Amino acid sequence: MQTTVYEKLKQCESCVRRVTDFIPRVAVVLGSGLGDYADTIRVAAQVPYGDIEGFPVSTVPGHDGRFIFGYVEDVPVVCMKGRVHYYEGYEISDVVLPIRLMKLLGAEILFLTNASGGVNTSFHAGDLMLITDHISCFAPNPLVGANIEQLGTRFPDMSHVYDPELQEIIRTAAGEKGISLQQGVYAQLTGPSFETPAEIRMLRTWGCDAVGMSTAVEAVAAAHMGMRICGISCVCNLAAGMTANPLSHREVQEAADRTAPVFKSLVTESVKRFGLLP
Ligand code: HPA
Repeated sequence: MQTTVYEKLKQCESCVRRVTDFIPRVAVVLGSGLGDYADTIRVAAQVPYGDIEGFPVSTVPGHDGRFIFGYVEDVPVVCMKGRVHYYEGYEISDVVLPIRLMKLLGAEILFLTNASGGVNTSFHAGDLMLITDHISCFAPNPLVGANIEQLGTRFPDMSHVYDPELQEIIRTAAGEKGISLQQGVYAQLTGPSFETPAEIRMLRTWGCDAVGMSTAVEAVAAAHMGMRICGISCVCNLAAGMTANPLSHREVQEAADRTAPVFKSLVTESVKRFGLLP
């Protein structure tokens, strides 16, 4: 018999629960460059994705896959070291399975991070961008198929995917830490090819500020479950056609690594403040 998406999710939940009873408050998805953020966590337990039956395992270099449970300051968190991308060939329901799982494990807040290409002409490589909204409709919607009633409603509202209060906390944290922060709309395309210059012009006309290959579908699944969501993107390069240079994964990785110290301190400062929320 074929297992349903929900059954698979519950199976993954029991696998994790066999290892740890840790209850996280905040779920953090670590994008490119934030991989070693785990070093700043007081670790309580780790669960490699490969140990979770049915869990999609990432194939991208630099996306070493595991859940890290522990504390950022005193806030209980679960971090995803390595996420699952649609371009790797997974069903979209598998791409968002980890997000759903972290909610089942107790996380109420989802903190998404990623690497992106800057579409806004005033952005520079190395900028951090607070995600205020997204365009997800170039990727398959993870809610297509029978609605999972246990998780959320059939037609969820997407008017405020990125929680205004969390956004304000991040802005304030950045301001007080002297970290400059852009803000804008993130568009998820499927990848894995980078965009063409024509696609980038289209995205700019449509109001996008940054483009990447993750995050928005995760936010859709999380919004369906009523999580409070926030996101920060590391703008690693200017998108196709905006400079004379061809784009490469290496360039993206190097830029992400350079920005990592500031990015990490903003994530920590923000999570600490989320911990003070009622
Ligand atoms: N396009 C899509 N995804 C990306 C880019 C880009 O230019 N840079 C980093 N991730």
